[in-house]
Amino acid sequence: MPIIGFPVEVKPDEKRCALLPVNVKTYTLLGATVVIEKGLGQHLHISDAEYVEAGAQLATDRQSLLKQANIILALHKLPTEELQHLSANTLLVSYLDPFNESAYIQQLVKGNISSISMEMIPRISRCQKMDALSSQASLAGYVMVLQAANTLDAVFPMMMTPAGTLKPAKVFIIGAGVAGLQAIATAKRLGASVTAFDTRAVVAEQVRSLGAKFLHIDLGQTSETGQGYAQALTPEQMQIQQREQAKCIADSDIVITTAQLFGRKPPKLIDQATIASMRAGSVIVDMAAENGGNVDGSVVGKTVEINGVSIIGTGFWANGVAKHASQMYASNLFSLISEFWDKESNQFVVDVKDEVLSGCVISHQGTVVNKMISDFYQQNGVQMTDHSAQQTPTQTSSQEA
Ligand code: NAI
Repeated sequence: MPIIGFPVEVKPDEKRCALLPVNVKTYTLLGATVVIEKGLGQHLHISDAEYVEAGAQLATDRQSLLKQANIILALHKLPTEELQHLSANTLLVSYLDPFNESAYIQQLVKGNISSISMEMIPRISRCQKMDALSSQASLAGYVMVLQAANTLDAVFPMMMTPAGTLKPAKVFIIGAGVAGLQAIATAKRLGASVTAFDTRAVVAEQVRSLGAKFLHIDLGQTSETGQGYAQALTPEQMQIQQREQAKCIADSDIVITTAQLFGRKPPKLIDQATIASMRAGSVIVDMAAENGGNVDGSVVGKTVEINGVSIIGTGFWANGVAKHASQMYASNLFSLISEFWDKESNQFVVDVKDEVLSGCVISHQGTVVNKMISDFYQQNGVQMTDHSAQQTPTQTSSQEA
């Protein structure tokens, strides 16, 4: 039986994990053996015994888990030095950040390790259940509002009391994608007055349907990719956006930025002058702090204060609701694995011609098979040595490219 291994996440402070006890049975029913590293669910207060009771086996140690697994499922990529423990043809599924991690991908290619990047799951209806970017972004939207509310020195809802009337907090959300819409809904539920902006005019209706106002900025022609991602603005459009949103930012108690550009650095949306225009005591949350930031001066993993304005750059936000984030991520992973599990041969089949796998499989059979990534490497002068000629015969889990 193929072995699916779940290693402990080694990223500092990570509380999420890729498997809950309830998922073990679903994998065993599929025909796989589930092996976990000791302590997999410790941050969620899930004991090893609970996993074992559900049908999982405990690996003697991490190295033996990595050696025996045919498939490794995780949140974050394994440390580079651990890749040597994986056998050729192992399938590694996790976030891989392939645009920025070409050296890591080269190691996968060299070791003839097949890999799926969870960020690259295509945005088509068939994939919604596997879409980890969306599941985690939605929770991030919720967590960012709660962190902002905890930092603000005022309440969110309007309160009419014998001691006077308190005005509702004004929240401005920039970027109304998956995270932004959830942030709008959460801030509205808490009673704030919410305004939002996005370069994709198509979301204005969604913003209004949540009871928020949409800030209209005439940017001229803007567009989105076939998968719904925003295209980058021109420098002139960026200037218009920054100028037109400045008044709304200065007038807000909380600004939450969620703007991302797929495969590129997030746009800089708020500069020091704009921060200086805000009331001391107000709060900015920069969702993109981890990847370069939407806000000038935000620091990943920290809350900093500039002119009395708190700028929150916590990063990996879904970690703040680790139990539900793990539940959703584990479900995304199982949907992916079960979708391509061939019952007859009892294995995961890497069919790189499939519309889903062609989008998210990065390395396979000693080469980078993902067209978007290999084109990107080529355009950016990244040298990638092909090892397909030295690959060992496939034992499990693959199909000819
Ligand atoms: P994202 O995380 O790449 O970006 C977040 C938001 O930032 C987007 O709405 C984008 O338009 C916005 N943005 C980019 N530059 C900006 C700027 N300069 N100023 C203001 N906003 C800016 O995108 P996300 O949230 O992951 O998804 C975007 C859209 O993709 C969704 O709203 C949805 O329409 C579509 N989608 C489709 C799925 C499917 O399975 N069919 C699944 C998930 C999303």
